Amino acid sequence: MKATEETTEKLLEQREALQKKYEAYQAEGLSLNISRGLPCKEQLELNKEMFHVVDETNCVAEDGTDVRQYGVMYGLPECIRLFSELLHIPEDRIVLGGESSLNLMYDQFLRYYAFGTLGEKPWSQQGKLKWLCPVPGYDCHFNLTEALGFEMINIPMTKDGPDMDLIEKLVAEDPTIKGIWCVPQYTNPSGYVYSDETVERLAKMKTAAPDFRIFWDNAYAVHHIYKENIVKDIMKEAEKYGTENRILYFFSTAKITFPGSGVCLVATGEEGIAEIKRLLKLQIFSHDKINQLRHVRYLKDPETIKAHMKDIAKILRPRFDLVDRILTEHRLYDDLYTWFKPDGGYFITVDSFEGCAKEILSRMQQAGVMVATAGSTYPYHKDPHDTNIRLAPTYPPIEDLTKAVTMFSDVACLVGIEQILKERGAI
Ligand SMILES: Cc1ncc(COP(=O)(O)O)c(C=O)c1O
Repeated sequence: MKATEETTEKLLEQREALQKKYEAYQAEGLSLNISRGLPCKEQLELNKEMFHVVDETNCVAEDGTDVRQYGVMYGLPECIRLFSELLHIPEDRIVLGGESSLNLMYDQFLRYYAFGTLGEKPWSQQGKLKWLCPVPGYDCHFNLTEALGFEMINIPMTKDGPDMDLIEKLVAEDPTIKGIWCVPQYTNPSGYVYSDETVERLAKMKTAAPDFRIFWDNAYAVHHIYKENIVKDIMKEAEKYGTENRILYFFSTAKITFPGSGVCLVATGEEGIAEIKRLLKLQIFSHDKINQLRHVRYLKDPETIKAHMKDIAKILRPRFDLVDRILTEHRLYDDLYTWFKPDGGYFITVDSFEGCAKEILSRMQQAGVMVATAGSTYPYHKDPHDTNIRLAPTYPPIEDLTKAVTMFSDVACLVGIEQILKERGAI
């Protein structure tokens, strides 16, 4: 049943009961934080062996490179091969970065900004520019385009990926639109998977800007929890249309091994990768090859990575089940909030009753539980309907997660009911 169809008398009763619950939560003096997608301790401990696979007796790579030394600027060949086999990207299209793909995205963006690409003017010299942002999306992406002065255009997200009719229309007409953020597999935060058609259309579409770029952040490519979804290979698709340099494919092991100490990569077309290699010489002699070797020795091959991800899924599944169960059991009416249980990734996204997300998060914070920053899944922190809230179930101890999500469900019901009562002039 919907709360909007409930009698005012009954809603007033529900409100009173929920308010009492909320006061009890407040009295507990909680201090919980479920706001960021960090791996839990148990997940990190799966990787114990990593500390022992490289030591002073075995720090030479396959080709005789001493990994303690400068050199091998684009990444250890065996590490590139490992990711090439995992992601089906040719080795010569891959350059390894440091320990964070976000850092690599930042570098790549700044290269376009400062130097332009493949003969086009630097973005910094092209006047006011725009960027497409599928929403809800990832705050770290939006923060970068905002800081560089790009006008961010919201593109509604569907279960198949961003609204392609709108994207095709905009990019065909406007040469000041320079790119789009994409998290194709288990979108952050919604957990959707781009359909084959979405991938094909992104690779194929005509863009007015010759230097239009797709930042393809495939952070969760192997993070299946319930079911293995495979996103169509955008690099292969782009080859069909001669648009390989449009795709900037990013991947990292942050949520496979150690966040902040992973290995990441960028891949693109032949000319694009040559350009990256040329510009990299301005930046660095080589990234951390000891860490690259550690990753190859530990992760070994695609089969070992897949088995490792199954172990991670075993840790994550009860957490995602728990959140789904609590959200189901505590929702008093169908329209007070909705959510999507993803097949993988790191998040569950809830949409509250319209106009309530900010208030829900504020009340949670007042009771000592940090869930998310209001509006953070939208550019400029402006959620037009004030509904979207990202839950990150991966990190806190199960007990804390249970408490925080139970309270969240109750508070979401309370604030939603109050909103309806206000609209009816009953409070
Ligand atoms: C979509 C997405 N991209 C990138 C990252 C960060 O990856 P890294 O640690 O490699 O910078 C995250 C982390 O939450 C993410 O969700």
